[in-house]
Amino acid sequence: MCDIEIKTRQLTIRPTVREDVPLMFPHIKENFELTQYMCWEPPSKIEETYAIFDNYKKDPSGEPYRFSILKGQTFIGRVGVRDINREEKSANFGFWIAQDFQNQGYGTEVLKAIARFVFEDLNLEKLTGEVFTENKTSQRVFEKVGFTKVRTIKNALKKRGKLIDEYAYELLAKDFLP
Ligand SMILES: CC(C)(COP(=O)(O)OP(=O)(O)OC[C@H]1O[C@@H](n2cnc3c(N)ncnc32)[C@H](O)[C@@H]1OP(=O)(O)O)[C@@H](O)C(=O)NCCC(=O)NCCS
Repeated sequence: MCDIEIKTRQLTIRPTVREDVPLMFPHIKENFELTQYMCWEPPSKIEETYAIFDNYKKDPSGEPYRFSILKGQTFIGRVGVRDINREEKSANFGFWIAQDFQNQGYGTEVLKAIARFVFEDLNLEKLTGEVFTENKTSQRVFEKVGFTKVRTIKNALKKRGKLIDEYAYELLAKDFLP
């Protein structure tokens, strides 16, 4: 497991460990609101969350950076960096903040720190993310950090029986780093 620790003004972003599962689970358990704009569905039993965590180890290449977000000792969300493409110098990311902690600037703080990590530590030049067209909060966060909406992906996926359109966003190192 990587030993990266990213400190922001208010938060610590560090690799998710198995001991985080009981801290994470109450926030996602049968939480259909938190997950309405995400491509996964909420678990109902903690064993499901342990199983997902244990499966990560079988495919370490799939998403090498899986982080928990902590405010002090309190677990408040997760962020992952995936699809690292060394040729294209790009990576993709996904994140969520637990509902009790939303709309307090943490998502923006995390995304800025992850962009810096991807550009400065991983030496990549482009960070990409996709957002459901209905997910206005996430679009606001992307735009606050400086991402550009580059295209619409029609019928990107099916969620709860409905075809979903997404916006693809990207952020370039040259536009983000001072
Ligand atoms: C998207 C998410 C990570 C943002 O985290 P956060 O900590 O709430 O974000 P911030 O507090 O930094 O910023 C939220 C911004 O959205 C704005 N916002 C909130 N609700 C909004 C709405 N319905 N429409 C438009 N903007 C909205 C807030 O006012 C704030 O903008 P401001 O600083 O200009 O006032 C969080 O809402 C979340 O986890 N959502 C569920 C999972 C998800 O959608 N993940 C992202 C998938 S791409």
